[in-house]
Amino acid sequence: MKRIIVLTGAGISAESGLKTFRDGDGLWNTYRMEDLATPEAWNSNPELVLEFYNWRRKQLYEAEPNPAHIVLAKLEQHFDVQIITQNVDDLHERAGSTKVLHLHGELKKVRSTVDPDLVYELRGWELKLGDLCEKGSQLRPHVVWFGEEVPNIMIANSMVRNADIFIVIGTSLKVYPAAGLLYYVSANVPKYLVDPKAGPEMVIKNLKIIREKASAGVHVLVDELIKNL
Ligand code: OAD
Repeated sequence: MKRIIVLTGAGISAESGLKTFRDGDGLWNTYRMEDLATPEAWNSNPELVLEFYNWRRKQLYEAEPNPAHIVLAKLEQHFDVQIITQNVDDLHERAGSTKVLHLHGELKKVRSTVDPDLVYELRGWELKLGDLCEKGSQLRPHVVWFGEEVPNIMIANSMVRNADIFIVIGTSLKVYPAAGLLYYVSANVPKYLVDPKAGPEMVIKNLKIIREKASAGVHVLVDELIKNL
């Protein structure tokens, strides 16, 4: 089976009702990222940080996978599909994808502030000040904040190097190291980008751009991949 690596960003979940970050109504055009998604924000105002992630977690419980997530999950019938996502939602998993690597963490999980290996599934949407890990320290969202390391990036790099086909969906490719993954793919590997606003600056060998929303674009792409099997 050919190995497809799919790098996804917030755009794939937009049709599920979750906001992206850098579109006109995106989260970082509405809120100050420095106040909500940095270690400094957590140290100075943890209540506000928790409120932000609780709000997003609550929305996630109300959201459902959209056709783009579902079609990608079904692609496993024909290909060995590895998803690498920057998203903290679990919509790929809920659509049925079996191999999902999260680069920026997972919204439904929390972890200890003294031991990063103590990661827990949160029951429900609300994490509060005073919720403690088994070592007695405050729990924090299990997400990567700006200025923090991306622990899974080395695994992602090696996955990308072994791709037969590489697909990018719904990411502005502005945040590194995730955005740099595209440059680890061999020049001769077919690449596809699905994004309604993909810019003309994407000059990469063997890259086909599909300027559609994720659900429509993924349909076009998957039809083409299956036809060429
Ligand atoms: P961005 O908000 O930067 O980019 C979203 C991309 O999705 C843009 O290129 C849009 O054109 C595209 N888009 C919008 N609607 C779409 C749709 N219906 N179908 C397909 N594409 C659509 O989001 P990311 O690139 O994911 O990190 O952002 C990267 C990281 O920045 C996030 O993981 C997050 C954020 O800060 C952390 O929180 C660590």
